[in-house]
Amino acid sequence: MSDTFQTAVLTGASRGFGRAIAAALVAGGTRVVGIARDERELRAVRDELGEGFVPIAADATDEALAHEVIRDHRPGLLVLNAGATPHMAPLHEQTWETFSRTWHVDTRHAFVWTRAALREPLAPGGVVLAMSSGAALNGSPLSGGYATAKSGVRAISGYAADEARRAGLGLRFVALLPGLTPTGVGAVGVAGYAAREGVDRDTFVAGLQPVLTPELVAKAVMEVAGDPDSAAEYRIGADGPSPIG
Ligand SMILES: NC(=O)c1ccc[n+]([C@@H]2O[C@H](COP(=O)([O-])OP(=O)(O)OC[C@H]3O[C@@H](n4cnc5c(N)ncnc54)[C@H](OP(=O)(O)O)[C@@H]3O)[C@@H](O)[C@H]2O)c1
Repeated sequence: MSDTFQTAVLTGASRGFGRAIAAALVAGGTRVVGIARDERELRAVRDELGEGFVPIAADATDEALAHEVIRDHRPGLLVLNAGATPHMAPLHEQTWETFSRTWHVDTRHAFVWTRAALREPLAPGGVVLAMSSGAALNGSPLSGGYATAKSGVRAISGYAADEARRAGLGLRFVALLPGLTPTGVGAVGVAGYAAREGVDRDTFVAGLQPVLTPELVAKAVMEVAGDPDSAAEYRIGADGPSPIG
């Protein structure tokens, strides 16, 4: 792994899945350029992981940033993980702003970085992993546009894989669809669906067994990133990644 990826760029690196992915990559000898908006949280990751983690406090939807970071750091691996927390409410209690929040962050940042990876382009052998969600397959009726935002991420990854193939760029684009976890973005989902079912959080989480954790997601990321023959899309569960289709 460390031979293949000297440098990785990871969005949403300050918490949750991103923080666990950064820790796994740094432990494997990869230098991680980690992007998130909250500087204090990023500094805490740097304190924990040391010089192998290079923090950039910025908005990952910024197109100029994507080009600049790819040019400056020439990553072999790009992990597009940043995501907004959905506003949990049924459709009729959403506004257009709350409904489309994840489109403006998750989908937009996937578009911006995927486009930059194709246009710079990344060096041959480069890998782009885009964090979609199991919600793209199953829906998520209390999360506004979240499921469709993550379908967008999935589609962008698939289109890019095709363009990379057509242009002979030698790049791998893979979409990852993790199941619901009781952490991070998933915590609001768990609270929302538990309330809708009229059960408490712990009862709802018991129904998710075996529970997926950020560390298991990070393990799956390492496995898929390091597999030159990876599939185009994976579900990620507690038992690891399983190819779709
Ligand atoms: N947890 C789940 O159940 C689950 C399941 C399937 C898929 N996912 C997806 O996996 C990804 C990570 O989820 P998580 O649970 O780890 O979420 P999380 O703990 O809330 O972490 C989200 C990360 O994204 C960053 N971020 C948000 N908006 C950003 C922006 N505009 N620019 C840069 N960074 C931004 C956050 O930092 P700042 O706020 O400081 O910017 C943070 O580092 C998300 O894309 C999520 O949709 C999660």
